Amino acid sequence: MCGIVGYVGKRQAAPILLEGLHRLEYRGYDSAGIAIGGKTRLQIAKRKGRVRELDELRPLRFKGTFGIAHTRWATHGEPSDRNAHPHCDASGRYAVVHNGIVENAAALKAQLVEHGCVFTSDTDTEVFAHLIALMDDGSPLEAVVGAVLRRIVGAYGLAVADAHRPGTLVVARNGSPVVLGIGDSEMFVASDPSALVRHTTSVVHLNDGEIAAVRADGYETRTLDGAPTSSTPSTIAWKDEAFDKGTFDHYMRKEIAEQPDAVRRTLSGRLDTRFQTAHLGGVTMAARDLLDVRRVKILGCGTARIAGAVGADLIEQLARIPADAEAASEFRYRNAVIERDTLYIAVSQSGETFDTIAAVQEVKRKGGRVMGVVNAAGSTIARECGQGIYLHAGPEVSVVSTKTFTCTAVAFTLLAIHLGRLRDLSVANGARLIGALQELPDRIAAILEREPEIASLAKLVAPAEHAFFIGRAAGHAVAAEGALKLKEISYLHAEAYPAAELKHGPLALISPQTPTIVILPRDSLFSKNISTIEEIKARGGPVIAITHPGDAPTKFDGAIEVPALEPELDPLLLNIPMQLLAYHVALLRGTNIDQPRNLAKSVTVE
Ligand code: M6R
Repeated sequence: MCGIVGYVGKRQAAPILLEGLHRLEYRGYDSAGIAIGGKTRLQIAKRKGRVRELDELRPLRFKGTFGIAHTRWATHGEPSDRNAHPHCDASGRYAVVHNGIVENAAALKAQLVEHGCVFTSDTDTEVFAHLIALMDDGSPLEAVVGAVLRRIVGAYGLAVADAHRPGTLVVARNGSPVVLGIGDSEMFVASDPSALVRHTTSVVHLNDGEIAAVRADGYETRTLDGAPTSSTPSTIAWKDEAFDKGTFDHYMRKEIAEQPDAVRRTLSGRLDTRFQTAHLGGVTMAARDLLDVRRVKILGCGTARIAGAVGADLIEQLARIPADAEAASEFRYRNAVIERDTLYIAVSQSGETFDTIAAVQEVKRKGGRVMGVVNAAGSTIARECGQGIYLHAGPEVSVVSTKTFTCTAVAFTLLAIHLGRLRDLSVANGARLIGALQELPDRIAAILEREPEIASLAKLVAPAEHAFFIGRAAGHAVAAEGALKLKEISYLHAEAYPAAELKHGPLALISPQTPTIVILPRDSLFSKNISTIEEIKARGGPVIAITHPGDAPTKFDGAIEVPALEPELDPLLLNIPMQLLAYHVALLRGTNIDQPRNLAKSVTVE
């Protein structure tokens, strides 16, 4: 959601923090701010809008070697100058940047107002600054902040600077990530390692309930009660260059183009051609325990959940284990029955999605077994799960997920083969699928070459205000992903339905102005899908088919023909043209593709 960055060391802090904010802008982009520690006071600039609008306030003129900065995605209070972080106490001595939500903010604010505090924003974050000012008894800053945090109910990733304690930053974490970056006589803090990789690859992920005092020469971590905790630095594998847009106009387009290589990395070292199965080193459950699994429940949000639905279908088809995917946000609150012989799988690109973390914790609390399918190494979900499959897709910067959908589907194909080969999936079928996976990156590359055709189809969709996406079985999950992509970046209202559901209501909305995109593999349901298409055509609705080459009894208004590979991989391949379709529709509609309105990468609040 929001992004935090902090620096303490010998260099000027402002350029480092501003560069970090630009890097973090994909986490939230409705306002930004910076506080730099000078000799006696903090210098603060903050503003509604993008980081480049903050640049216009010339924060680079601020001199000082420690500071904190923030890019915001509004929760409490509209995006505005006054609601932008950092927030300060009345004297301007303490500055706070915060990700998360303070649930008891109203009660705390009422108490603080009684003490004479005057609030200057509508945010929940401001209570931190006033509380710190009120409770500062001269103890080390980390002790003061620890005492304040014991009064907070809610989630936070927090960084605090005090003008009177130069050279120290205090950061804390409860439900919203905070990472320390270890430099050479300098330290960095951030809510996301992407802001650090330019400076260091040695990082420490704070745990929930930890607070850290960070100085140029090192850091100490403690519990909120002051008990020391131990932390082991880890190394970030992602390279700084991976965060650049390169020659592309948008990160989304770059990440679509990266898919062949990303898939190669997901597959790397995992195809076992001796036993025609998948080798998954991160899955630590023994084969006999995996044999006891009677059900698989996949949990995630947004695209991660939809990729999980593709995974559920694969697991059911290849391993014959009943499987389904559910929104983590629903699962965590519905007092779900946790079964001993169910395998729970949390899916997340960022590994920091609040609802998915909460679902994992709910499963663990009730004694269930959970593994992760995660892109960001060392992230909260990866660490909570302790076992699973890393995607190795590389950083995904665009708010819209593209390559991680594909890599998640690939990871589930590997898992389904692994589970299947422990059961009834034959050597021949294992070999067929392993062979297909080896061909997959080149097939994806071939589809990407069809971009001009897809761009031309986008002209049919772009003028519409509504669109339907339909498919059957795993094709329905692909339709759901296509609709999500389109609505996210083009603001065109798109709905996905299982194809046969159309006649149970949505058909009433079909008109010449409402295109339907049909996921139409040449499988056993092909003729059923054709019947649905006829029903749409009979009502004047334009139909675009994402299909395989071959004769079709119906004339489509547009079609992209994707060469078939193996039926199990159809969903994955049929999804690729829809990413490009959404991209080109958004281009035609002139929207902000990488940072769509109201959204943020990595939703770290409820
Ligand atoms: O980081 P996660 O995979 O857990 O994120 C889950 C969703 O927030 C994410 O997939 C979202 O739906 C994307 N904007 C989709 O493009």
